[in-house]
Amino acid sequence: MAPFYRALSPLFLITPQARRKGVAALALHPGDTVLEVGAGSGRNLPYLVDAVGPTGTVIGVDLSTGMLAEARKLIARRGWRNVELIHADAARMGVPGEVDAVLFSLSYSAMPEAARLPAATRAWEALRPGGRLAVMDLGLTETPLRPVLDPIAKGLVRLGPGHPYVRPWDDLARFGEVATDRFLHLFYVCTVTKPAA
Ligand SMILES: C[S@@+](CC[C@H](N)C(=O)[O-])C[C@H]1O[C@@H](n2cnc3c(N)ncnc32)[C@H](O)[C@@H]1O
Repeated sequence: MAPFYRALSPLFLITPQARRKGVAALALHPGDTVLEVGAGSGRNLPYLVDAVGPTGTVIGVDLSTGMLAEARKLIARRGWRNVELIHADAARMGVPGEVDAVLFSLSYSAMPEAARLPAATRAWEALRPGGRLAVMDLGLTETPLRPVLDPIAKGLVRLGPGHPYVRPWDDLARFGEVATDRFLHLFYVCTVTKPAA
């Protein structure tokens, strides 16, 4: 799906607003290093590069060579020199050094169940004290629209995007207090901050 991911985004109701909210939840500063887990074709890179500035670093990890190839094209087109891509299973990834923030954008729900918590744990270990880990995703778990949207969601699950009933906030609760912001009925951003050392 990688070459068509961008074109298919409207079908999955993925809006720039959702991406901006996910990145804003990280509270990034110029010079920061941010890790995006399941970075895909790089659709968040413009927002992340903008937030960390030319002195910061963006690290994207993804398991799909097709998605990473699309991300590489974008990086070349934009001429970014501070974006590093890593081909790895997030459940087993090694992150070079400590990072200031971690983003899972529409990726936590796309990972197989067995990979989710190991991926979050690896990311948490790489996060510096005081840094934030945010999961922005699309889900039906808490919306009153669920009875109406259930049949559509079941069809979408078969097409391959994220599972709409994943509850990242339950997994993240083992790391600390989780703040969850829900918007447009379908999206959420849940954030947990690593306690300062
Ligand atoms: C729906 S895409 C989201 C891409 C991007 N973050 C975005 O917001 O557009 C989900 C991504 O998660 C990646 N992914 C799924 N399981 C993974 C895993 N175990 N390790 C690394 N990446 C994974 C997929 O390859 C895919 O690129």
